[in-house]
Amino acid sequence: MAQLFYGSFIYSKSLDELEYLHDAAILVDNSGKIVAVEKECGTKEKVVEKFVNQKLVPGDVKVHETVEGQFFFPGFIDTHLHASQYPNVGIFGKSTLLDWLNTYTFPLEASLADPVKARKVYGRVIRKTLSHGTTCAAYYATIDVASTNLLADLCLAAGQRALVGRVCMDQLSPAYYRDETPEAALASTRESIAYIQKIDPGMEIVRPVITPRFAPSCSAPLMKGLGKLAAEMPTLPIQTHISENKNEIALVRELFPPSSTGAKQDSYAGVYDACGLLTDRTILAHAVHLSEDEADLIASRKAKVSHCPCSNSAITSGAARVRWLLEKGVTCGLGTDMSGGYSPSVLEAARLAALVSRHVAMGGDERAKLSVEEVLYLATKGGAEVVGLEAKVGAFEAGMEWDAQLIGLGIVDSEGGVTGVSGGLEEDGNVDVFGWESWQDQVAKWVYNGDDRNTKKVWVRGRLVHERK
Ligand code: GUN
Ligand code: FE
Repeated sequence: MAQLFYGSFIYSKSLDELEYLHDAAILVDNSGKIVAVEKECGTKEKVVEKFVNQKLVPGDVKVHETVEGQFFFPGFIDTHLHASQYPNVGIFGKSTLLDWLNTYTFPLEASLADPVKARKVYGRVIRKTLSHGTTCAAYYATIDVASTNLLADLCLAAGQRALVGRVCMDQLSPAYYRDETPEAALASTRESIAYIQKIDPGMEIVRPVITPRFAPSCSAPLMKGLGKLAAEMPTLPIQTHISENKNEIALVRELFPPSSTGAKQDSYAGVYDACGLLTDRTILAHAVHLSEDEADLIASRKAKVSHCPCSNSAITSGAARVRWLLEKGVTCGLGTDMSGGYSPSVLEAARLAALVSRHVAMGGDERAKLSVEEVLYLATKGGAEVVGLEAKVGAFEAGMEWDAQLIGLGIVDSEGGVTGVSGGLEEDGNVDVFGWESWQDQVAKWVYNGDDRNTKKVWVRGRLVHERK
Protein backbone atom coordinates (compact mmCIF):
# COMPACT_ATOMS: atom_id res chain seq x y z
CA MET A 1 0.00 0.00 0.00
CA ALA A 2 1.17 3.55 -0.69
CA GLN A 3 1.94 5.66 2.38
CA LEU A 4 1.62 9.36 2.99
CA PHE A 5 3.87 10.96 5.59
CA TYR A 6 2.58 14.32 6.72
CA GLY A 7 3.86 17.02 9.06
CA SER A 8 7.43 18.03 9.95
CA PHE A 9 10.51 16.74 8.14
CA ILE A 10 14.14 17.62 8.77
CA TYR A 11 17.11 16.48 6.65
CA SER A 12 20.49 17.69 5.42
CA LYS A 13 20.55 19.98 2.41
CA SER A 14 24.31 20.38 2.56
CA LEU A 15 27.14 19.86 5.03
CA ASP A 16 26.18 22.82 7.15
CA GLU A 17 22.51 23.32 6.41
CA LEU A 18 19.40 21.42 7.40
CA GLU A 19 16.14 21.63 5.50
CA TYR A 20 13.09 22.12 7.75
CA LEU A 21 9.70 21.32 6.24
CA HIS A 22 6.43 21.83 8.12
CA ASP A 23 2.90 20.93 7.02
CA ALA A 24 4.69 19.09 4.26
CA ALA A 25 3.94 15.70 2.75
CA ILE A 26 5.92 12.83 1.30
CA LEU A 27 4.24 10.12 -0.74
CA VAL A 28 5.90 6.70 -0.73
CA ASP A 29 4.79 3.99 -3.16
CA ASN A 30 4.35 0.34 -2.25
CA SER A 31 7.93 -0.44 -3.27
CA GLY A 32 9.23 2.06 -0.69
CA LYS A 33 10.18 4.74 -3.18
CA ILE A 34 9.50 8.43 -2.56
CA VAL A 35 7.29 9.50 -5.46
CA ALA A 36 6.43 13.04 -4.40
CA VAL A 37 7.60 15.65 -1.92
CA GLU A 38 5.19 18.52 -1.30
CA LYS A 39 6.99 21.23 0.66
CA GLU A 40 4.06 23.51 1.32
CA CYS A 41 0.71 21.87 1.07
CA GLY A 42 -1.52 23.34 3.76
CA THR A 43 -3.72 20.63 5.19
CA LYS A 44 -3.41 16.89 4.91
CA GLU A 45 -6.77 16.72 3.12
CA LYS A 46 -5.58 19.19 0.49
CA VAL A 47 -2.44 17.28 -0.28
CA VAL A 48 -4.29 13.98 -0.54
CA GLU A 49 -6.72 15.63 -2.96
CA LYS A 50 -3.82 17.01 -4.96
CA PHE A 51 -2.10 13.62 -5.17
CA VAL A 52 -5.38 11.99 -6.19
CA ASN A 53 -5.85 14.60 -8.95
CA GLN A 54 -2.31 13.98 -10.16
CA LYS A 55 -3.15 10.26 -10.12
CA LEU A 56 -0.19 9.70 -7.77
CA VAL A 57 -2.31 7.94 -5.17
CA PRO A 58 -3.35 4.54 -6.44
CA GLY A 59 -6.31 4.08 -4.14
CA ASP A 60 -5.72 3.24 -0.51
CA VAL A 61 -3.04 5.20 1.25
CA LYS A 62 -1.88 4.81 4.83
CA VAL A 63 -1.30 8.18 6.50
CA HIS A 64 1.37 8.81 9.14
CA GLU A 65 1.29 12.21 10.79
CA THR A 66 3.64 13.99 13.18
CA VAL A 67 2.29 15.67 16.31
CA GLU A 68 3.85 18.43 18.42
CA GLY A 69 7.50 17.73 19.19
CA GLN A 70 7.85 15.15 16.43
CA PHE A 71 9.61 15.13 13.08
CA PHE A 72 10.70 12.68 10.42
CA PHE A 73 14.47 12.41 9.98
CA PRO A 74 16.48 10.21 7.57
CA GLY A 75 17.63 6.90 9.01
CA PHE A 76 21.17 6.85 10.36
CA ILE A 77 23.96 5.16 8.46
CA ASP A 78 26.57 3.37 10.54
CA THR A 79 29.53 3.18 8.18
CA HIS A 80 31.61 0.91 10.41
CA LEU A 81 30.78 -1.65 13.08
CA HIS A 82 31.57 -5.22 14.05
CA ALA A 83 28.34 -7.19 14.56
CA SER A 84 30.40 -9.98 16.09
CA GLN A 85 31.80 -7.75 18.84
CA TYR A 86 28.47 -6.56 20.26
CA PRO A 87 28.62 -8.71 23.43
CA ASN A 88 31.83 -6.82 24.36
CA VAL A 89 30.47 -3.26 24.28
CA GLY A 90 31.92 -1.37 27.23
CA ILE A 91 34.51 -4.04 27.95
CA PHE A 92 37.92 -2.63 27.07
CA GLY A 93 39.56 -1.58 30.34
CA LYS A 94 42.60 0.56 29.64
CA SER A 95 43.62 -1.36 26.53
CA THR A 96 44.78 0.08 23.24
CA LEU A 97 44.21 -1.36 19.78
CA LEU A 98 46.72 -4.22 19.48
CA ASP A 99 46.32 -5.61 23.00
CA TRP A 100 42.55 -5.00 22.83
CA LEU A 101 42.36 -7.19 19.71
CA ASN A 102 44.26 -10.04 21.34
CA THR A 103 42.67 -9.81 24.77
CA TYR A 104 39.03 -9.13 24.05
CA THR A 105 38.24 -9.28 20.38
CA PHE A 106 39.75 -12.31 18.69
CA PRO A 107 38.49 -14.78 21.34
CA LEU A 108 34.92 -13.45 21.06
CA GLU A 109 34.90 -13.39 17.25
CA ALA A 110 36.29 -16.92 17.08
CA SER A 111 33.57 -18.15 19.44
CA LEU A 112 30.85 -17.04 17.00
CA ALA A 113 31.66 -20.00 14.77
CA ASP A 114 29.04 -21.58 17.05
CA PRO A 115 25.84 -20.99 15.06
CA VAL A 116 23.62 -20.87 18.15
CA LYS A 117 25.76 -18.12 19.67
CA ALA A 118 26.02 -16.28 16.35
CA ARG A 119 22.24 -16.23 15.90
CA LYS A 120 21.74 -14.87 19.38
CA VAL A 121 24.34 -12.12 18.96
CA TYR A 122 23.47 -11.08 15.40
CA GLY A 123 19.73 -11.12 16.06
CA ARG A 124 20.26 -8.78 18.97
CA VAL A 125 22.66 -6.42 17.16
CA ILE A 126 20.19 -5.89 14.36
CA ARG A 127 17.29 -5.17 16.69
CA LYS A 128 19.40 -2.92 18.89
CA THR A 129 20.82 -0.82 16.07
CA LEU A 130 17.40 -0.52 14.40
CA SER A 131 15.99 0.75 17.70
CA HIS A 132 18.60 3.51 17.61
CA GLY A 133 17.54 4.52 14.10
CA THR A 134 20.29 2.76 12.11
CA THR A 135 18.63 1.92 8.82
CA CYS A 136 21.87 0.97 7.09
CA ALA A 137 24.95 -0.64 8.62
CA ALA A 138 28.35 -1.62 7.21
CA TYR A 139 29.03 -4.77 9.21
CA TYR A 140 32.12 -6.85 9.76
CA ALA A 141 31.11 -10.40 10.75
CA THR A 142 33.93 -12.93 11.42
CA ILE A 143 36.14 -15.22 9.35
CA ASP A 144 33.45 -17.91 9.56
CA VAL A 145 31.47 -18.15 6.32
CA ALA A 146 28.32 -19.80 7.71
CA SER A 147 27.78 -17.26 10.45
CA THR A 148 28.63 -14.35 8.13
CA ASN A 149 25.93 -15.63 5.80
CA LEU A 150 23.58 -15.95 8.76
CA LEU A 151 24.15 -12.26 9.54
CA ALA A 152 23.09 -11.44 5.97
CA ASP A 153 19.99 -13.67 6.31
CA LEU A 154 18.99 -11.95 9.55
CA CYS A 155 19.49 -8.43 8.13
CA LEU A 156 17.36 -9.34 5.13
CA ALA A 157 14.62 -10.79 7.31
CA ALA A 158 14.62 -7.82 9.69
CA GLY A 159 14.71 -5.38 6.76
CA GLN A 160 17.88 -3.58 7.80
CA ARG A 161 19.96 -2.37 4.88
CA ALA A 162 23.42 -3.81 5.34
CA LEU A 163 26.84 -4.34 3.90
CA VAL A 164 27.98 -7.70 5.22
CA GLY A 165 31.65 -8.60 5.19
CA ARG A 166 33.32 -11.91 5.83
CA VAL A 167 36.57 -10.88 7.57
CA CYS A 168 39.86 -11.81 5.88
CA MET A 169 43.00 -12.30 8.01
CA ASP A 170 45.81 -14.73 7.25
CA GLN A 171 48.69 -13.58 9.44
CA LEU A 172 49.71 -12.40 12.88
CA SER A 173 46.49 -13.28 14.69
CA PRO A 174 46.35 -16.39 16.92
CA ALA A 175 46.30 -19.78 15.16
CA TYR A 176 42.74 -20.43 16.42
CA TYR A 177 41.42 -17.42 14.50
CA ARG A 178 43.15 -17.03 11.17
CA ASP A 179 42.73 -17.96 7.51
CA GLU A 180 45.17 -20.75 6.77
CA THR A 181 46.36 -19.39 3.43
CA PRO A 182 45.58 -16.43 1.15
CA GLU A 183 43.89 -18.88 -1.23
CA ALA A 184 41.64 -20.20 1.53
CA ALA A 185 40.69 -16.65 2.55
CA LEU A 186 39.86 -15.75 -1.05
CA ALA A 187 37.78 -18.90 -1.54
CA SER A 188 35.81 -18.23 1.66
CA THR A 189 35.24 -14.64 0.57
CA ARG A 190 33.91 -15.75 -2.80
CA GLU A 191 31.66 -18.28 -1.11
CA SER A 192 30.14 -15.65 1.15
CA ILE A 193 29.73 -13.12 -1.68
CA ALA A 194 27.96 -15.72 -3.82
CA TYR A 195 25.58 -16.56 -0.98
CA ILE A 196 24.67 -12.96 -0.21
CA GLN A 197 24.14 -12.22 -3.91
CA LYS A 198 21.87 -15.24 -4.12
CA ILE A 199 19.60 -14.22 -1.23
CA ASP A 200 19.24 -10.64 -2.49
CA PRO A 201 20.09 -10.62 -6.22
CA GLY A 202 19.21 -6.95 -6.68
CA MET A 203 21.28 -6.02 -3.62
CA GLU A 204 18.27 -4.03 -2.46
CA ILE A 205 18.78 -4.72 1.25
CA VAL A 206 21.99 -6.71 1.75
CA ARG A 207 25.25 -6.36 -0.15
CA PRO A 208 28.48 -8.29 0.28
CA VAL A 209 31.56 -6.19 1.07
CA ILE A 210 35.18 -7.21 0.50
CA THR A 211 36.76 -7.06 3.96
CA PRO A 212 40.50 -7.31 4.56
CA ARG A 213 40.57 -6.77 8.36
CA PHE A 214 43.58 -4.41 8.22
CA ALA A 215 47.05 -4.58 6.73
CA PRO A 216 48.79 -6.11 9.77
CA SER A 217 46.54 -9.17 9.67
CA CYS A 218 46.68 -9.66 5.89
CA SER A 219 49.62 -10.88 3.79
CA ALA A 220 50.50 -8.98 0.61
CA PRO A 221 49.30 -11.92 -1.56
CA LEU A 222 45.95 -11.89 0.25
CA MET A 223 45.50 -8.13 -0.13
CA LYS A 224 46.50 -8.29 -3.80
CA GLY A 225 44.06 -11.16 -4.32
CA LEU A 226 41.28 -9.13 -2.74
CA GLY A 227 42.26 -6.14 -4.88
CA LYS A 228 41.89 -8.35 -7.98
CA LEU A 229 38.54 -9.61 -6.74
CA ALA A 230 37.37 -6.01 -6.24
CA ALA A 231 38.38 -5.19 -9.81
CA GLU A 232 36.52 -8.26 -11.04
CA MET A 233 33.37 -7.28 -9.09
CA PRO A 234 33.04 -3.53 -9.60
CA THR A 235 29.69 -3.25 -7.82
CA LEU A 236 31.07 -4.44 -4.51
CA PRO A 237 32.33 -2.11 -1.82
CA ILE A 238 35.53 -2.71 0.16
CA GLN A 239 36.04 -2.00 3.85
CA THR A 240 39.09 -1.99 6.09
CA HIS A 241 40.84 -0.08 8.89
CA ILE A 242 43.60 2.50 8.45
CA SER A 243 45.92 4.52 10.65
CA GLU A 244 44.02 4.08 13.89
CA ASN A 245 46.83 3.73 16.38
CA LYS A 246 50.54 4.65 16.41
CA ASN A 247 51.81 1.14 17.23
CA GLU A 248 49.67 -0.25 14.43
CA ILE A 249 51.21 2.24 11.99
CA ALA A 250 54.72 1.28 13.11
CA LEU A 251 53.80 -2.37 12.59
CA VAL A 252 52.60 -1.70 9.05
CA ARG A 253 55.83 0.15 8.31
CA GLU A 254 57.82 -2.85 9.57
CA LEU A 255 55.71 -5.49 7.81
CA PHE A 256 55.32 -3.78 4.46
CA PRO A 257 58.43 -2.01 3.18
CA PRO A 258 57.58 -0.58 -0.28
CA SER A 259 59.52 -3.42 -1.93
CA SER A 260 57.06 -5.94 -0.46
CA THR A 261 54.06 -4.52 -2.30
CA GLY A 262 55.56 -2.31 -5.00
CA ALA A 263 54.02 0.72 -3.29
CA LYS A 264 54.74 4.11 -4.84
CA GLN A 265 54.07 5.89 -1.57
CA ASP A 266 55.81 4.58 1.57
CA SER A 267 52.77 4.79 3.82
CA TYR A 268 49.85 2.78 5.21
CA ALA A 269 47.56 4.16 2.48
CA GLY A 270 50.32 3.36 -0.03
CA VAL A 271 50.13 -0.34 0.95
CA TYR A 272 46.39 -0.52 0.22
CA ASP A 273 46.88 1.45 -2.98
CA ALA A 274 49.57 -0.92 -4.22
CA CYS A 275 47.22 -3.86 -3.59
CA GLY A 276 44.32 -2.37 -5.56
CA LEU A 277 42.31 -1.73 -2.41
CA LEU A 278 42.27 2.07 -2.42
CA THR A 279 39.31 2.82 -4.67
CA ASP A 280 36.22 5.02 -4.80
CA ARG A 281 34.32 2.09 -3.25
CA THR A 282 36.66 1.75 -0.27
CA ILE A 283 35.53 2.57 3.27
CA LEU A 284 38.50 3.34 5.51
CA ALA A 285 37.72 3.30 9.22
CA HIS A 286 39.49 5.65 11.63
CA ALA A 287 42.11 7.57 9.57
CA VAL A 288 43.35 9.21 12.76
CA HIS A 289 47.06 9.71 12.13
CA LEU A 290 47.29 10.12 8.34
CA SER A 291 50.14 12.15 6.86
CA GLU A 292 49.42 14.98 4.47
CA ASP A 293 50.57 12.80 1.54
CA GLU A 294 48.38 9.88 2.59
CA ALA A 295 45.29 12.04 2.91
CA ASP A 296 46.03 13.46 -0.54
CA LEU A 297 46.40 9.96 -1.95
CA ILE A 298 43.09 8.91 -0.36
CA ALA A 299 41.39 12.01 -1.77
CA SER A 300 42.81 11.37 -5.23
CA ARG A 301 41.47 7.79 -5.20
CA LYS A 302 38.10 9.06 -3.90
CA ALA A 303 38.21 6.53 -1.07
CA LYS A 304 35.87 7.31 1.84
CA VAL A 305 36.48 7.66 5.57
CA SER A 306 34.39 6.33 8.45
CA HIS A 307 35.03 8.57 11.44
CA CYS A 308 34.71 6.60 14.70
CA PRO A 309 35.00 9.09 17.57
CA CYS A 310 33.60 6.77 20.25
CA SER A 311 36.11 4.03 19.52
CA ASN A 312 38.99 6.45 18.97
CA SER A 313 38.35 7.89 22.42
CA ALA A 314 37.58 4.63 24.24
CA ILE A 315 40.66 2.70 23.14
CA THR A 316 42.73 5.91 23.14
CA SER A 317 43.64 5.87 19.47
CA GLY A 318 43.54 9.63 18.89
CA ALA A 319 41.40 12.46 17.53
CA ALA A 320 40.77 12.30 13.79
CA ARG A 321 40.85 15.65 11.99
CA VAL A 322 37.55 15.55 10.20
CA ARG A 323 37.57 19.18 9.04
CA TRP A 324 41.01 18.64 7.52
CA LEU A 325 39.77 15.55 5.65
CA LEU A 326 36.60 17.31 4.46
CA GLU A 327 38.64 20.25 3.21
CA LYS A 328 40.77 17.86 1.19
CA GLY A 329 37.57 16.66 -0.44
CA VAL A 330 37.44 13.31 1.36
CA THR A 331 33.88 12.05 1.87
CA CYS A 332 33.29 11.20 5.53
CA GLY A 333 30.59 9.41 7.49
CA LEU A 334 30.24 8.17 11.06
CA GLY A 335 30.89 4.72 12.50
CA THR A 336 30.09 3.37 15.96
CA ASP A 337 32.89 0.79 15.54
CA MET A 338 31.33 -1.46 18.12
CA SER A 339 33.01 -2.72 20.23
CA GLY A 340 36.07 -0.52 19.95
CA GLY A 341 33.27 1.98 20.45
CA TYR A 342 31.02 1.25 23.43
CA SER A 343 27.72 2.43 21.96
CA PRO A 344 25.46 1.06 19.22
CA SER A 345 24.07 4.55 18.62
CA VAL A 346 24.95 6.71 15.63
CA LEU A 347 23.41 9.64 17.54
CA GLU A 348 26.04 9.03 20.22
CA ALA A 349 28.69 8.91 17.47
CA ALA A 350 27.39 12.25 16.17
CA ARG A 351 27.56 13.80 19.63
CA LEU A 352 31.08 12.44 20.15
CA ALA A 353 32.13 13.68 16.70
CA ALA A 354 31.10 17.15 17.86
CA LEU A 355 33.03 16.79 21.14
CA VAL A 356 36.17 15.28 19.59
CA SER A 357 36.20 18.09 17.03
CA ARG A 358 36.25 20.51 19.98
CA HIS A 359 39.29 18.72 21.39
CA VAL A 360 40.99 19.15 18.02
CA ALA A 361 39.98 22.82 18.18
CA MET A 362 41.48 23.14 21.66
CA GLY A 363 44.74 21.94 20.11
CA GLY A 364 44.83 25.22 18.19
CA ASP A 365 42.66 24.84 15.12
CA GLU A 366 39.45 26.71 15.97
CA ARG A 367 37.95 25.85 12.59
CA ALA A 368 38.02 22.15 13.43
CA LYS A 369 34.76 22.40 15.40
CA LEU A 370 31.84 20.53 13.86
CA SER A 371 28.34 21.94 14.25
CA VAL A 372 25.14 20.04 15.00
CA GLU A 373 24.21 20.38 11.33
CA GLU A 374 27.57 18.98 10.24
CA VAL A 375 27.51 15.91 12.50
CA LEU A 376 23.95 15.13 11.38
CA TYR A 377 25.10 15.40 7.76
CA LEU A 378 27.87 12.89 8.49
CA ALA A 379 25.33 10.58 10.16
CA THR A 380 23.01 10.56 7.12
CA LYS A 381 23.98 12.03 3.75
CA GLY A 382 27.72 11.71 4.30
CA GLY A 383 27.26 8.12 5.41
CA ALA A 384 25.13 7.35 2.36
CA GLU A 385 27.98 8.51 0.11
CA VAL A 386 30.48 6.49 2.11
CA VAL A 387 28.52 3.27 1.52
CA GLY A 388 27.74 4.15 -2.11
CA LEU A 389 23.99 4.62 -1.60
CA GLU A 390 23.72 8.39 -2.02
CA ALA A 391 21.20 8.03 -4.83
CA LYS A 392 18.85 6.07 -2.57
CA VAL A 393 19.12 7.16 1.04
CA GLY A 394 20.32 9.91 3.38
CA ALA A 395 17.72 12.57 2.54
CA PHE A 396 14.09 12.98 1.50
CA GLU A 397 13.91 13.58 -2.23
CA ALA A 398 11.68 12.19 -4.95
CA GLY A 399 13.27 9.08 -6.43
CA MET A 400 15.01 8.15 -3.18
CA GLU A 401 13.78 5.41 -0.84
CA TRP A 402 11.94 5.96 2.45
CA ASP A 403 14.59 5.10 5.07
CA ALA A 404 13.46 7.23 7.96
CA GLN A 405 12.92 7.60 11.68
CA LEU A 406 10.14 9.34 13.53
CA ILE A 407 11.74 11.39 16.30
CA GLY A 408 9.67 12.53 19.29
CA LEU A 409 10.87 14.98 21.94
CA GLY A 410 9.33 15.54 25.38
CA ILE A 411 6.93 18.47 25.61
CA VAL A 412 6.90 20.13 29.02
CA ASP A 413 3.41 21.08 30.20
CA SER A 414 2.36 24.08 32.32
CA GLU A 415 2.90 22.17 35.58
CA GLY A 416 6.42 21.09 34.68
CA GLY A 417 5.38 17.58 33.81
CA VAL A 418 5.92 15.94 30.46
CA THR A 419 2.62 14.69 29.26
CA GLY A 420 2.94 15.48 25.57
CA VAL A 421 1.25 13.26 23.07
CA SER A 422 4.56 11.73 22.10
CA GLY A 423 4.88 10.08 25.50
CA GLY A 424 5.47 10.63 29.18
CA LEU A 425 8.58 11.62 31.09
CA GLU A 426 10.29 8.25 30.82
CA GLU A 427 9.36 7.68 27.20
CA ASP A 428 10.90 10.91 25.95
CA GLY A 429 14.13 10.54 27.89
CA ASN A 430 16.29 13.57 28.46
CA VAL A 431 15.03 15.88 25.75
CA ASP A 432 12.66 18.42 27.34
CA VAL A 433 11.16 21.02 25.03
CA PHE A 434 9.52 24.01 26.73
CA GLY A 435 7.75 25.37 23.71
CA TRP A 436 9.76 28.48 23.02
CA GLU A 437 12.77 26.84 21.38
CA SER A 438 13.34 27.27 17.65
CA TRP A 439 13.43 24.08 15.57
CA GLN A 440 17.22 24.55 15.27
CA ASP A 441 17.48 24.53 19.06
CA GLN A 442 15.20 21.51 19.41
CA VAL A 443 17.44 19.58 17.02
CA ALA A 444 20.53 20.63 19.01
CA LYS A 445 18.86 19.40 22.21
CA TRP A 446 18.13 16.09 20.52
CA VAL A 447 21.73 15.69 19.30
CA TYR A 448 23.25 16.43 22.70
CA ASN A 449 20.69 14.68 24.95
CA GLY A 450 18.69 12.28 22.80
CA ASP A 451 18.77 8.50 22.72
CA ASP A 452 16.71 5.55 21.51
CA ARG A 453 13.74 6.70 23.63
CA ASN A 454 13.31 9.51 21.10
CA THR A 455 13.31 7.12 18.14
CA LYS A 456 9.63 6.22 17.97
CA LYS A 457 9.43 4.44 14.63
CA VAL A 458 11.91 3.37 11.97
CA TRP A 459 11.31 2.48 8.29
CA VAL A 460 13.54 0.98 5.62
CA ARG A 461 12.31 1.13 2.00
CA GLY A 462 8.90 2.04 3.35
CA ARG A 463 8.73 -1.01 5.63
CA LEU A 464 8.20 -0.37 9.35
CA VAL A 465 11.18 -2.15 10.94
CA HIS A 466 11.02 -0.83 14.49
CA GLU A 467 8.36 0.71 16.68
CA ARG A 468 8.92 1.82 20.25
CA LYS A 469 6.14 0.53 22.44
N1 GUN B 1 41.76 -3.00 13.47
C1 GUN B 1 41.73 -4.29 13.09
N2 GUN B 1 40.66 -4.93 13.57
C2 GUN B 1 39.98 -4.02 14.28
C3 GUN B 1 38.76 -4.06 15.01
O1 GUN B 1 38.09 -5.09 15.13
N3 GUN B 1 38.37 -2.91 15.60
C4 GUN B 1 39.09 -1.76 15.51
N4 GUN B 1 38.66 -0.68 16.10
N5 GUN B 1 40.23 -1.70 14.83
C5 GUN B 1 40.67 -2.81 14.23
FE1 FE C 1 36.61 -1.45 13.52
